[in-house]
Amino acid sequence: MAKTFLTEDVFTPTSPAKWTYIERTAQERQIKRALRTKGKQIVVYGHTGSGKTTMLNSLLAEMSVKNITTRCTRGISISDVLFDAFDQLGGYYVEQKEEGNEEKISGGLKFGIEFFSASLGGESKDVQKEIRKRIVEVQKNPNQLAKLFGNVGMVWIIEDFHKLDAEPKKELSQIMKVFMDVADKFPKLKIIAIGAVDSARQVVHYDKEMENRISEVNVPLIEPEDLAKIVQLGEGYLNITFEQSVIEKIAAYSSGLASVTHQCIPTASSVLILTHFLLAFAFKKSNGQIHRI
Ligand SMILES: Nc1ncnc2c1ncn2[C@@H]1O[C@H](COP(=O)(O)OP(=O)(O)O)[C@@H](O)[C@H]1O
Ligand SMILES: [Mg+2]
Repeated sequence: MAKTFLTEDVFTPTSPAKWTYIERTAQERQIKRALRTKGKQIVVYGHTGSGKTTMLNSLLAEMSVKNITTRCTRGISISDVLFDAFDQLGGYYVEQKEEGNEEKISGGLKFGIEFFSASLGGESKDVQKEIRKRIVEVQKNPNQLAKLFGNVGMVWIIEDFHKLDAEPKKELSQIMKVFMDVADKFPKLKIIAIGAVDSARQVVHYDKEMENRISEVNVPLIEPEDLAKIVQLGEGYLNITFEQSVIEKIAAYSSGLASVTHQCIPTASSVLILTHFLLAFAFKKSNGQIHRI
């Protein structure tokens, strides 16, 4: 049976669009290239609502790139940011283990509870012989974090990077540098820093030597023709039709912000349904005769 769509599935003013996603070809190409380039880090910037998060979500899902996201808020420190990443990675540091288990537990780091049990094949006897600590308790340095990310093959997205104060911003740029420097060992290691500002430099304050190792991706506001496409894609899923003039008005009023386009549709479709209902009612009342009003 064909899938039934609700308006809120299709038009998503406050979450990344899935069904009505329109491609951001130039930006996607730039990010794909940076993802393939060893050691290249990425800064994505642009107006709030221009579609940075949506584009990145869509691209990383398409490319099956595993990732975790840390969100920055005003006043948080660099330790908070690192803690969040370590915490989400769920890394454990095996501080000490008994002799003779080498072949069962290789390496000092284990990642995540699932990984732990999988790698040990459920042999709880061996787990008990280890003295292990959550990595957040023992090591919170950038090198350790880079290794963790490198080993699990994940990309670190840092949202709202611009909200950090000057000092943690500087420190975080140095962490980016650490990620660049271990590129030989972990070529896919990436930080993607996102900021709702007008330039990459307002997102990350980085040194001259880092300049050509960072890809600066500007996500501009969306053109009216593309905003119109969002409405047209949604029409298909919801089996409704708007007049072309209505679509053009929605696209124009949205002023480049897809969130506004998505917000307009539930209102516009309610008006459409109400109009249909009133017309049908009026038609019945007039015994099928159409009068000019
Ligand atoms: N390419 C796109 N296609 C369709 N809708 C989009 C697109 N980009 C953004 N949107 C919609 O616009 C809204 C704002 O996008 P978002 O990615 O959160 O912007 P930003 O991260 O730049 O603030 C989202 O709710 C999303 O549904
Ligand atoms: Mg966003």
